[in-house]
Amino acid sequence: MQFRPLHFVLVFFLSVLILEACIDNGADRLAMSSKPAMTPLGSIDALPESVVHPTDNPYSKEKALLGRLFFYDPILSGEKDVSCATCHHPEFGYAENIELSIGVGGRGLGLDRFSNRLGEIPFAKRNSQTILNTAFNGIESNKKYDPSKAPMFWDLRSKSLEDQSLHPIRQFEEMRGPNFDEKNILKVVVDRLREIPAYQTLFGQAFNSDQPITEENLAKAIACFERTLIANKSRFDLYMRGDEHAISLSEKEGLDLFLNAGCARCHAGPMFSDFQVHTIAAPDAEKINTPDSGFQQQFAFRTPTLRNLRFTAPYMHSGKIQTLENVLTFYEDLRGKPLRTTHVQTLQLDTLAKQIKLEFKDISRIVEFLNTLNDPNYDREIPKSVPSGLPVGGNIRLEQ
Ligand code: HEC
Ligand code: HEC
Repeated sequence: MQFRPLHFVLVFFLSVLILEACIDNGADRLAMSSKPAMTPLGSIDALPESVVHPTDNPYSKEKALLGRLFFYDPILSGEKDVSCATCHHPEFGYAENIELSIGVGGRGLGLDRFSNRLGEIPFAKRNSQTILNTAFNGIESNKKYDPSKAPMFWDLRSKSLEDQSLHPIRQFEEMRGPNFDEKNILKVVVDRLREIPAYQTLFGQAFNSDQPITEENLAKAIACFERTLIANKSRFDLYMRGDEHAISLSEKEGLDLFLNAGCARCHAGPMFSDFQVHTIAAPDAEKINTPDSGFQQQFAFRTPTLRNLRFTAPYMHSGKIQTLENVLTFYEDLRGKPLRTTHVQTLQLDTLAKQIKLEFKDISRIVEFLNTLNDPNYDREIPKSVPSGLPVGGNIRLEQ
């Protein structure tokens, strides 16, 4: 019989602790007698071994190849200087190691990236998210998920990779720039693609229709490629699939501490995300003029995945926390210390965030456990050239 480790569906209904009521605010104390039991601790799981593609955009080799070329081709940006890979680079787990992205007008990659036009074209408002495993966005343990409804962005404002893929092209500071308006940029881009013979051939091979070069097919090809960027063989996945020795004793301890601290109430399921938004008072971004108020002006942001964090620092929607140890200290400080943003009052903190029970001594073990969620063997292939003949990835080399 195959070994199956505990499925970590730890459902603890704890009665209310008197002590806790004492350190809570007055309103809570009054409500103490009717306060509901603590929320169950939540469950975590391995990722599936294969990906579900939407019925109206099935996988094909040709489509994924075309999508990969688009991902690296700056022809999709107004000034032909930025590609998706500029801010989602394989070197950084398909995210980026700077707080806030620099799109149009920037030069260089990661920490070396700069722009002399920041007065005219500001930073992107949030930290770049990883594309790895976005094929699984929306997934819950042991349930079917629908990739055509997959939640996207820190504030859930888009559903599905197909829909998401055209947003950055329309976004002023990311890819569009000052020379085109939001309404016509996609037409401009499609017209450019129609003039490039290699794209005519590749679109013809990927889509069966008389005029295959359309906005819709551009989006489908990018999404199809993104669904191939999977990292589902972390040591944690191997452990959950039955290899008892894939993680060490102290990492297992870290796993227990992670669950008992209440992290999986939000970082749940195979992606370590409930794909819901929560107000947890993460520090604000400093390089933008208007405060980022997140989902429905509540300073709430979507629970990010905890997979592959080794490659995707810095952390939080603002990129304001540099290391995992400091993220954990942030959570420990939620109890008692002043909040790290002036825009959120303690009363507005998400209930599940208030229920976190974390001790300083447990931080390093939890970080050890988080490191079992890295899968370094993801696809890092970068095309040698792109059909437009422009620099692969955009202006990411300083010497160009
Ligand atoms: C200038 C940097 C930049 C460029 C260029 C860029 N992105 Fe992003 N991307 C971001 C940022 C920042 C976010 C988070 C934005 C937010 O949540 O408001 C993001 C979010 C995403 C997400 C959401 C992931 C998730 O889990 O919700 C996907 C998918 C994505 N980008 C794909 C792309 C694709 C495809 C392209 C090219 C067509 C692209 N990006 C171009 C910076 C960039
Ligand atoms: C109330 C739900 C909730 C709980 C409980 C919770 N988190 Fe989070 N976590 C979030 C949200 C939401 C964010 C993003 C916040 C932001 O950027 O504003 C986040 C961000 C993070 C990040 C940064 C990831 C990245 O890519 O930026 C890490 C790491 C993390 N949490 C680990 C933990 C650990 C460990 C625990 C348990 C001690 C925990 N979280 C408990 C909701 C939660």
